Amino acid sequence: MKYFVFCALFALTYANVDVNQLKKLQALPEFAGVSLVELEAQTRLTVPDLIESEGYPSETYEVTTEDGYILTLHRIPLGKNAKKSNGKVAFLQHGILSSSCDWIITGSSKGLAYILADEGYDVWMGNARGNRYSRNHTTLNPDKDSKFWKFSWHQIGAIDLPTMIDFVLEKTGVPSVYYAGHSQGTTSFFVMTSFKPEYNEKIKVQVSLAPIGFMNHMTSPFFRILAFWGKPLGLLLDLIGVDEFLPNNAFMDSFGSVICGDHSITQILCENVLFALCGFSNKEMNATLLPTLMAHTPAGSSTRQIMHYGQEINSGHFRQYDFGLIENEKVYKTHSPPDYKLSQVTAPVYMLYSHNDWLAAEKDVTRLCDKLGNCKGMFLISIEAFNHLDFMYGLSAPKIVYPKVISLFSRH
Ligand SMILES: *[C@@H]1O[C@H](CO)[C@@H](O)[C@H](O)[C@H]1NC(C)=O
Ligand SMILES: *[C@@H]1O[C@H](CO)[C@@H](O)[C@H](O)[C@H]1NC(C)=O
Repeated sequence: MKYFVFCALFALTYANVDVNQLKKLQALPEFAGVSLVELEAQTRLTVPDLIESEGYPSETYEVTTEDGYILTLHRIPLGKNAKKSNGKVAFLQHGILSSSCDWIITGSSKGLAYILADEGYDVWMGNARGNRYSRNHTTLNPDKDSKFWKFSWHQIGAIDLPTMIDFVLEKTGVPSVYYAGHSQGTTSFFVMTSFKPEYNEKIKVQVSLAPIGFMNHMTSPFFRILAFWGKPLGLLLDLIGVDEFLPNNAFMDSFGSVICGDHSITQILCENVLFALCGFSNKEMNATLLPTLMAHTPAGSSTRQIMHYGQEINSGHFRQYDFGLIENEKVYKTHSPPDYKLSQVTAPVYMLYSHNDWLAAEKDVTRLCDKLGNCKGMFLISIEAFNHLDFMYGLSAPKIVYPKVISLFSRH
């Protein structure tokens, strides 16, 4: 009963995809003859709905952080094709503007969560504060209280991940988890393991998909412009949303000309802020997945998460949030924010990256790997078109990326 109320609430609150977008989708050859009602039905499913529709068991848990954020964890305790459990626990953490949905959205035998579950892993998927599944707090209202949104990925790494991982360890009784993260799911991991080094021993191994630490070589035009305008902040914040990152239409339209082509799929994607930030390749995109993708992304982030990345682009440092000189003195007792002590990351880390990734440039990934206490290796995904989001949604990910994750996990 509780589960149904939960699902219904989320379905009502969030699955409000714009009818105009659905009409555009309908115009794609892939959706010729599909009614609006059917398309809309596809967009109304939540993560537990999607998991159950694939015939897998699904569980949902809530944890509360020390600063009052109520986070949702999704779990697939065992795959439907697994003969038996291998006794290992996997923890998956999504990227910016995303949610646990990333790990299952492409469906069974394609999403990493299903593949791991079928290998016998007990799979847990985190949701960072501020996304659609973790948009609640013991005292603050995300729709009314600006204070709710005063966090960046520093808090996700320093507070949310430790809280979720401790919960998983307690629930399962294992001493450590097999961690895979995508994008911000790697940034927050490096924050956790450098800022709270005692968490290294709770990580059996970490696999970074499109790792993000240093960012001064990234090539996303959207991020470049954000970083450039980060200084005259007032104007920028009006355009992209002061608290929650919700860029206004005029802002998105002006970026359209930078990144959009004539292809109709491209046009639909470039109106979506996640794809506008991270880029996309038609070659790796499954058009049939679009309504579901549109319904689940963007899943919500704070403006500070974006601004914090903008600071990395400008500074070339991987360090805590820059509040400005005076505020920094108060918070950190120094002019500049402190760097993350990456040598303290002693958990074994493997990095998977690609050349067409707008955000995780090879130079930045290499520098990150060099600075970590225990970077075990970097692996290039050699498909030319493969980009940042293809690690999650790309057609080749289940064939090229996830078998590598499984084999790296099995070394430990
Ligand atoms: C948010 O959390 C409060 C408990 O602090 C709870 O009463 C409320 O139902 C939650 N809201 C949603 C939408 O889950
Ligand atoms: C494309 O997505 C649809 C809808 O999720 C799915 O049924 C289909 O198998 C996918 N195709 C490939 C090649 O992955």
